[in-house]
Amino acid sequence: MTAGAAYQAVQDELRPDVRPQLNLATFITTGMEPEAERLMAEFLYHNTVDGVQPLHTADLAQRCVAALADLWHAPDPDSAVGTSTGGSSEACMLAGLAMLMLWRSRTSGSRERPNLVMSTAVHVCWAKFCAYWDVEARQIPVAEGGSGIDPHTAAEACDSNTIGVVTVLGTTYDGFYEPVQQVCAALDRRCARDGVDVPVHVDAASGGMVAPFLDPALVWDFRLPRVSSINTSGHKYGMVAPGLGWIVWRDPGVVPAELGFSTDYTGGRMSTQTLSFTRPVAPVIAQYYQFLRLGAEGYRAVVQRCRDLAQSLAAQLCQVPELRVISSADHLPVVAFTTHDHAGFSVTDLADRLRRRGWLMPTYALPSDQADVTVARIVCRNDLSDVLARRLADDIATAVTALRADRGGSRSRRRRDVVPSSSEIALTIDAGKTLGRGGSADLDTVVAGVAP
Ligand SMILES: Cc1ncc(COP(=O)(O)O)c(C=O)c1O
Repeated sequence: MTAGAAYQAVQDELRPDVRPQLNLATFITTGMEPEAERLMAEFLYHNTVDGVQPLHTADLAQRCVAALADLWHAPDPDSAVGTSTGGSSEACMLAGLAMLMLWRSRTSGSRERPNLVMSTAVHVCWAKFCAYWDVEARQIPVAEGGSGIDPHTAAEACDSNTIGVVTVLGTTYDGFYEPVQQVCAALDRRCARDGVDVPVHVDAASGGMVAPFLDPALVWDFRLPRVSSINTSGHKYGMVAPGLGWIVWRDPGVVPAELGFSTDYTGGRMSTQTLSFTRPVAPVIAQYYQFLRLGAEGYRAVVQRCRDLAQSLAAQLCQVPELRVISSADHLPVVAFTTHDHAGFSVTDLADRLRRRGWLMPTYALPSDQADVTVARIVCRNDLSDVLARRLADDIATAVTALRADRGGSRSRRRRDVVPSSSEIALTIDAGKTLGRGGSADLDTVVAGVAP
């Protein structure tokens, strides 16, 4: 096969039938500026573990770790230990391993089975961690509507074999932050009562790059002494193409020595804490670019716009009598909704209709304790432009009208059955204020566009 033919064959197999920007399911970055893409292409053949290359990629990664440690209020950001990973899943795996190793050394190699306490709303990577490392997953049921893990129940579920409690800052299901501060307070009370002293890990895969900018008064991070580690996904609201994650520990004291390995066989001595050895450096470089390019003010502008957009969409969906909005983007820029029993159609029917207009909207069951509720979720990202958001609103309105027609045939159109279109519900953001591919505005314009 010639190179051209092989290229064409692969293209033909893969040609995505959904434009990444129309994928409402994913939290993953689906657009970066050309300069960031160029940097990634230029460093395509570089490896994070190359010790001999002239560029100091390990230094860049360390600067990113220090920036995140600072953002998350680590006591001494410059001495915080952390690493880049392939994504949050690997970061969570490392956080879990650190807690497991520390528990082993605390209990002098106890033969009892360790456990990890978390809610049923955690990402599947935590089930993986427990399965792969033979840790009992103690899962606390959650109620619908954003309360997340119950702090008291979580604290009472701990015992001397608990390696840690996981809290999620922005669940994958509905985007709600779990109450990290209250969980820590409940654990403090438990510790004072009977000495059960358990560290907390915050899975901030998405929220780690949202809450510091939009909810600065919310105390969820290293300001809480019980929080020993935090992860985030560079490739979600960190705004880097996949795959990049970060794990940061509050200080070297909570990182077991067994987790770090020192090598010199790629030239230059280096220490790694990752599960895999070779990894592309390009996403780390793109992260560094985004930190320089956006700065804290830029990130704030971008995530504020995403949340505003999501809240506008939620307000629109609230006016559709058949729909019940579960999450209105009060936390992550995510809208989750289901249908009322009387609707006569399901969110899956709605997703099928939207699919014909090019949108991919996921529908799934809520965690096991509410598994009879099927929800749809819309994740608002930076590259959901205002034009696209208006189109989405109109396509939802058209789909609901069509589903009503399917359901009721000639049922008369009462006023309450009229679906407002995007032109009736003003999307509050001006067109064109996106960063990255597809957006026309420069950072200054974005910041100016949202600043008071
Ligand atoms: C809360 C949470 N944790 C972990 C993950 C896994 O992240 P990644 O896809 O970066 O491995 C996700 C992914 O959506 C998530 O939402």
